[in-house]
Amino acid sequence: MFDTKQQNALFLQSKQGQFAVGLHSIPKPGKDELLIQVFSAALNPIDYKIQERGGFVKNYPAVLGEDIAGMVNEVGEGVHNFVKGDRVFTHGQFSNDRSAFQQFTLGVADFTAKIPDNLGYDDAATIPLALDTASTGLYNSNKYGLGLTPPWAKNGMGMYSGTPIVILGGASAVGSYAIQLARLSGFSPIITTASPSHKEHLESLGATYVFNRDLPADELKTLVSNSTSGPIKYVYDAISLPETQQVGWSLLGEKGCMVLTLPASVKEEEGKERTTIMTFGSPHADENKPLCRESWAILSKWLEAGTIKPHRYEVLPNGLEGIIEGLERMKKGQVHGEKLVAHPQDTK
Ligand SMILES: NC(=O)c1ccc[n+]([C@@H]2O[C@H](COP(=O)([O-])OP(=O)(O)OC[C@H]3O[C@@H](n4cnc5c(N)ncnc54)[C@H](OP(=O)(O)O)[C@@H]3O)[C@@H](O)[C@H]2O)c1
Repeated sequence: MFDTKQQNALFLQSKQGQFAVGLHSIPKPGKDELLIQVFSAALNPIDYKIQERGGFVKNYPAVLGEDIAGMVNEVGEGVHNFVKGDRVFTHGQFSNDRSAFQQFTLGVADFTAKIPDNLGYDDAATIPLALDTASTGLYNSNKYGLGLTPPWAKNGMGMYSGTPIVILGGASAVGSYAIQLARLSGFSPIITTASPSHKEHLESLGATYVFNRDLPADELKTLVSNSTSGPIKYVYDAISLPETQQVGWSLLGEKGCMVLTLPASVKEEEGKERTTIMTFGSPHADENKPLCRESWAILSKWLEAGTIKPHRYEVLPNGLEGIIEGLERMKKGQVHGEKLVAHPQDTK
């Protein structure tokens, strides 16, 4: 039992230490913030990477998690577009009062959206980090992306019609949202790599060609050049392991750019003027704020209309405790084409 100002949270107890459920105070929303009762929290690779390697987090014990869906419990000063009881989702931060793996958290109103009636909390929790990473990689123009015109901008919908794009790792959460945004931007063909079991699903999201992720690079190169008439100017490598970067690099035409989700392992060369950009999917970064304010403002409408479909998911048992096992499974590469989500309110 705990008093009304306390809640359960999953703490990473020390740098590279163990996770354990403990008590954490329920914060008060500040200006432009909302207090959200978390009904669904999704897991991301960054969560196990922080435990494994440290990084990003400065203060321990730390509450992790970036993907939050729940109900507004209280609104802070200056919040006019949400009221208590709204079903919302929001992009968390590396801060104990603003992260996902707990029963109550704060959200920034600009990067919060209402969940339309056709979707549940779990659907919505799959969206924030992965969609923002896909979107910043394609549309951020000042550091973290290709600087393309987003589909929500004037004339942006379908703007890149006839331009091919390669999205490596289409079955990943980031990859599946990148395919959908590329479809809205009009790219064609949209070429992706994935295990054959994901082919049909990725085609339903907008992929034109789904090639087996395990094909040798030269075979893939032949398939890709047979599918397009022009050189590949844009590659989005959602996986960004050294081997996928190598494949992406070999597909990229002169003056092309490859977006990465992890640091570059390929070397930019002179002459062909090919470049890489490592994206950063946090809307809270100053460089992303203007773009993400726009994308978060349109998300509810797009989700309601089915313009963007949430990632597939599996619900973990045992509330916050269940996240520990879920992160282990992610670390071992045992999660395929779906997000793991946890229900913090089910914590015993
Ligand atoms: N820079 C940033 O801000 C940022 C933000 C978010 C994520 N990331 C990074 O981006 C990466 C992807 O994140 P995520 O959340 O999208 O991952 P995820 O959904 O957990 O990725 C799992 C999926 O990746 C697929 N996959 C694994 N290796 C592959 C390969 N060699 N070729 C094609 N597909 C492959 C798997 O396919 P199978 O189903 O066939 O096993 C699985 O379906 C992670 O490294 C993450 O840390 C970076």
